[in-house]
Amino acid sequence: MEPEVRPVAVRGLEDVIAADTRIGYVDGANGKLYYAGYEINDLAKHASYEECVFLLWNDRLPTKKELMDFRAEIIPEMTLPRPLIQWFRRVPRGVHPMVMLRSAISDLALYDKETEDNSLEANRRKAARLVAKVPSVIANFYRIYNGLDLIEPDPKKGIAVNFLRMFTGKEPDKKSREAIELMFVLHADHGFNASTFAARVTASTLADIYAAVTAAIGALKGPLHGGANQRVMEMLEGIGSPDDVEDYINGLLARRERIMGFGHRVYKVEDPRARHLRKYSEDVCGGDVACSRYYAISRRIEQQVKKTKGIYPNVDFYSATVQHALGIPVDYYTTVFAASRIAGWTAHVMEQHADNRLMRPRSQFVGKLPRRFVQMEKRKK
Ligand code: SDX
Repeated sequence: MEPEVRPVAVRGLEDVIAADTRIGYVDGANGKLYYAGYEINDLAKHASYEECVFLLWNDRLPTKKELMDFRAEIIPEMTLPRPLIQWFRRVPRGVHPMVMLRSAISDLALYDKETEDNSLEANRRKAARLVAKVPSVIANFYRIYNGLDLIEPDPKKGIAVNFLRMFTGKEPDKKSREAIELMFVLHADHGFNASTFAARVTASTLADIYAAVTAAIGALKGPLHGGANQRVMEMLEGIGSPDDVEDYINGLLARRERIMGFGHRVYKVEDPRARHLRKYSEDVCGGDVACSRYYAISRRIEQQVKKTKGIYPNVDFYSATVQHALGIPVDYYTTVFAASRIAGWTAHVMEQHADNRLMRPRSQFVGKLPRRFVQMEKRKK
């Protein structure tokens, strides 16, 4: 008789196919990323963030009129419920912006009359509210938390540029407008990454879209995922000069620590998003001494890590210098990731609700079995 083959747990679910999707495809072997079949290089060069959101939700690019109607629908949705604005004033000092965001987005469900309606039509309306409100929550919170006046969204501008102007209080110049649009396009979706998977598992119980997105924000915060971009900037600040890179990186590797912003579970070659962000961080850093130094350090780190570990930068590595150049404070970097990824999360929740089966994997029990019950007086440590 054949010995029983014990199934083994796949650590980190590596290469496990959890579901079919038509939303995003990460071709890790060839370093390519597609949104609904359109390659990221074409979208980065030619598409606005709103075109990408429309594409992820509808599996096609919008016509000019559809895009105008879509913008007319979502920009007014950047307005936040009054009680949420008041809550911002009561957030204790020192709270991480991702902790605020997780609570604030969950709170939005209190003010949405359609929260409990999982129909495709209601989900599509809630998705539009979320895509507009997540960036608005971040910008409005930052302004209130720092005693600054609130900036109203400009109906003639898109989500990404409105986010930046509402956050900084300044009208961004051409290069900054292009850089923030690129950041939003590049971060919009990325297959079954941990936060998207968290959203899908939650949606698969038929919990509402706000519950699913709250789970996603929780997952994104971790430094192995979206939290890496903040740690990249902290690393750049810690190194100080390009000449100190080799010792610093070798020290991290000698302690078997992870270099933040490098490596990827799926990409076995360069992350195509890093290529675009590398170029932009050089462009937007030009002229600023500190930023140019961070860019020079980044380039030296990239060379050193490639030489010693043979791994590549991911989306988070150059996102740090781009965000620094745009005037975003370091502890807000991961919220900017969430401000864009809300597009992918909502697309995946709608796809899950439209053709659902509860996601419920199994586990391999490796404890003692069976164990006889012991009465209290007989128990020993
Ligand atoms: C994002 O999934 C997505 O798509 C995510 C994302 C998206 O858009 O949603 O792309 C966004 O989260 C990007 C990743 C951001 N995280 C970081 O930059 C954190 C640093 N990176 C690593 O922790 C790591 O690369 C992961 C977590 C991203 C992937 O880890 P894996 O697939 O579990 O790989 P591993 O930890 O098992 O490492 C495999 C080998 C090891 O070598 P050995 O110890 O076996 O010799 O590669 C080495 C690791 O040491 N390695 C690294 C490394 N990443 C992998 N060594 C040093 N530094 C690193 N960053």
